[in-house]
Amino acid sequence: MTLTNDYPALKAQYEAAGQGHVFTFYNDLSAQEQEAFLDQLKMFDPEELSKIALKAMGESKQPAVKQQACLEPLPRNVTDKVCSASADRKEGWKKLGMDLIRQNKVAVILMAGGQGTRLGSDAPKGCYDIGLPSHKSLFQLQAERILRLQALARGDREEESIIPWYIMTSGPTHEPTCEFFEKHNYFGLSRDNVIFFKQGVMPCFTEDGKLMLQEKGKLAIAPDGNGGIYSALHREGIIASLKKRGVLYSHCYCVDNSLARVADPVFIGYCASKSTDCGIKVVPKSHPEEPVGVVCKCDDKYGVVEYSEISKELAFKRQEDGTLAFGAANIANHFFSTEFLERVPSFAHTLAYHVAHKKIPYTDLTNGQFIKPTKNNGVKLERFVFDVFGHSHAFSVLEVGRALEFSPLKNGSGAGVDCPETSRADILQQHAQFIIEAGGHVKDGVSIEISPLVSYAGEGLEIVKGKTVIQSGVVKTIEDLKQMLA
Ligand code: UD1
Repeated sequence: MTLTNDYPALKAQYEAAGQGHVFTFYNDLSAQEQEAFLDQLKMFDPEELSKIALKAMGESKQPAVKQQACLEPLPRNVTDKVCSASADRKEGWKKLGMDLIRQNKVAVILMAGGQGTRLGSDAPKGCYDIGLPSHKSLFQLQAERILRLQALARGDREEESIIPWYIMTSGPTHEPTCEFFEKHNYFGLSRDNVIFFKQGVMPCFTEDGKLMLQEKGKLAIAPDGNGGIYSALHREGIIASLKKRGVLYSHCYCVDNSLARVADPVFIGYCASKSTDCGIKVVPKSHPEEPVGVVCKCDDKYGVVEYSEISKELAFKRQEDGTLAFGAANIANHFFSTEFLERVPSFAHTLAYHVAHKKIPYTDLTNGQFIKPTKNNGVKLERFVFDVFGHSHAFSVLEVGRALEFSPLKNGSGAGVDCPETSRADILQQHAQFIIEAGGHVKDGVSIEISPLVSYAGEGLEIVKGKTVIQSGVVKTIEDLKQMLA
């Protein structure tokens, strides 16, 4: 259908789709507001939107039945485990990953378009200071991990190794994210290699499938979910950029995991060694009701069932050995080949929208008043990043250690779980573990924070061997660490 910003034609289209009410206040708007409203309306195909909304809402009303019928646990043979792989195998994965990074064939794609409602902060989540002694934000920790890996991959060579960092933002997070990077001078990364791009939006609907007005001349809209990444990668020229740079593989991850091993060479090498086009990291689920998605099979295809969509019965189901049947927790660390990302548009129309019931501020059609609801009054439609798994030709799953790789920041301070305090404690605990693994000790009561610029995953700390860290503080250089040892 060809859309036009011609008022009568647009009105006819929206009316034919049963959405003519969006023009209720059209005649009250100034000429400029009318123009802006028509510009917004012409972005969407109302008939298509109405179909999507009704289909998604229909499906969301019968999740339990659907789940019982189509979900199966992840077959054991599809998963490899870092904890039980031989040292040689792990070293092989890491070496391959580092070689690919050295050859500039690896990129990082960050999904940072979420609004972090549960965290209760107005700023994008990546700007959050979890209260580490250094007060580094999540963005800074991630930037420094990239810097360290680039330096490790480069070694003594004159030629730089570059890991381009593509950062997906949304309407609400774009400006503040870009400003934060500017303000912090890109944390030492070259700004040519940090590329921001915006995800798309979807209109919000009432529970009976009607478009909602936020203002008299503005539809209520919301980011289209982290699965919006695929269309955004194409629309915003990121696929072209990956190809121009010769990138073969991307590590795609969520902003809120304080332990995220950005561009992890072990994961990259593992997936590349298996000619994977689509891969994922998991950890064993900590308890049946942990709010994480689980990787499984649905209608014989790989997928993830979200914590909000799994029935209690399946969440608690155990296998003969006592482990959870649906226990492969998605830690939102994905691997994609560029070839796979290029292929997504060929099946994008089959990808479902998920329904999230939310409090959506709106304009009352009966009197034009703006209302901020106190309970859920409508739905947002979102695509999920993992819904493409079923289209993979070579899918791989790597199980990693939770203590080393997963500490999500979801809730506000004081929540006791997945909050700033747990993120901070998990990073400090990990750094103590690095010292122990390097052959050192940490005196009781001492806590150190090791800059990612000094060590990415525990490497380069040999000077602690046989020594004890006796002083708390931030290790910015190896010299700092020397001063803290006895
Ligand atoms: C996500 C996973 C879940 C996993 C958990 C681990 C999805 C859909 N769910 O759940 O399976 O177990 O992380 O922590 O991936 N985002 C956008 N745009 C959006 C919405 C979100 O970029 O429109 C980004 C967020 O900034 C964040 C990530 O996607 O980086 C995850 O979003 P969030 O809504 O917090 O997902 P969870 O419910 O935590």
